[in-house]
Amino acid sequence: SNVDDNEMQFIKMHEYLTDLYHHVLMHTKEGETALEYLEDRGFTPEIIRREKIGIAPSMKDFTKNALTEKGFSLEMAYQAGLISRNEEAFTYYDRFSSRIMIPILNHQGYNVGYTARSLDGREPKYLNTPETAIFQKRRLLYNLNDARKAIRSHDEVILMEGHLDIVKVKMTAVQNVVGLMGTALSDEHIRMLHRLASNVTLMFDGDGAGQNAQLSLGETLLEAGLDVFIISLPKGMDPDEYIEQKGCEAFEDLVRSEKRHYIHFKAEHLLEESMNNDMAFSTNLKTLTGHMKFVKDEVIRERLIQHISQLYKIDAKSLGQNIPAPAKKSN
Ligand code: CTP
Ligand code: MN
Ligand code: MN
Ligand code: MN
Ligand code: MN
Repeated sequence: SNVDDNEMQFIKMHEYLTDLYHHVLMHTKEGETALEYLEDRGFTPEIIRREKIGIAPSMKDFTKNALTEKGFSLEMAYQAGLISRNEEAFTYYDRFSSRIMIPILNHQGYNVGYTARSLDGREPKYLNTPETAIFQKRRLLYNLNDARKAIRSHDEVILMEGHLDIVKVKMTAVQNVVGLMGTALSDEHIRMLHRLASNVTLMFDGDGAGQNAQLSLGETLLEAGLDVFIISLPKGMDPDEYIEQKGCEAFEDLVRSEKRHYIHFKAEHLLEESMNNDMAFSTNLKTLTGHMKFVKDEVIRERLIQHISQLYKIDAKSLGQNIPAPAKKSN
């Protein structure tokens, strides 16, 4: 994918603003509250510097003025999603203010957008760059450029919900982590994941929303021919909170030792309902054996049959016979 002149100009604006927002956070009075907030959450100055996290100050025209002084076109800045426009007066004003600015780089390492966390409790909690020529959510995996090497060497990519979760995890030994921009998984994402690794591990927030996302995204990824694993976090915790409460080593241990296959995770998820409801028992078992046809690895298949037959108290052999023929390799 080549970057044309306009797109390179968009990227230059981002790079200029990222340095500026970062400077304001680290070295000015405007940044004090935000810096304290980040440090209270356990983000060290080193990681803040490495990720070039910044602050968009609480002014209506800080970004607009900075871009103008630097000679950038406001019309282009608007197209890049960096400022907003009043369509009646045709005037420009800042899109991001009073927000912690987390730069988003594309797979080539170019700064193409931001996710911006509100500091004063104002909604939405996170405001993202809108869709632009260089920022297309369906094509972006947050942190991919930094994670690529570790993903390749582990043949595993760990997918998380939150951007600050990923920033915090980067302070540990676990480096093969990426995030979606939201929870929508596109066909482009699936193709990217396929090219990167054969194993995808989902580590979403330990709440209802996170669990539902794991169940639904996991099924899509499994059917796309990837091996899918789940790391479950304690109730109410996300990866960032886990690291803050238990430390980096406990987190690294969790990643090493607590990886359930998607089907194993789902079998446990469906167990309670199945035990008290004979009709659900049958349909749930069919769902699980239906998923099994996507598992190509013989050892994993055998192991899953053992897990499910024990959980559901049925004969392993008859369970194995109910598995549909393996799916032909797609992609
Ligand atoms: N998100 C979003 N808009 C919101 C809330 C959430 O885009 N209004 C996205 C963000 O990418 C966020 C992710 O969903 O990182 C997970 O949401 P949540 O768990 O609420 O946020 P955290 O990442 O835990 O944020 P924090 O720890 O800063 O509260
Ligand atoms: Mn959440
Ligand atoms: Mn969080
Ligand atoms: Mn969270
Ligand atoms: Mn939260």
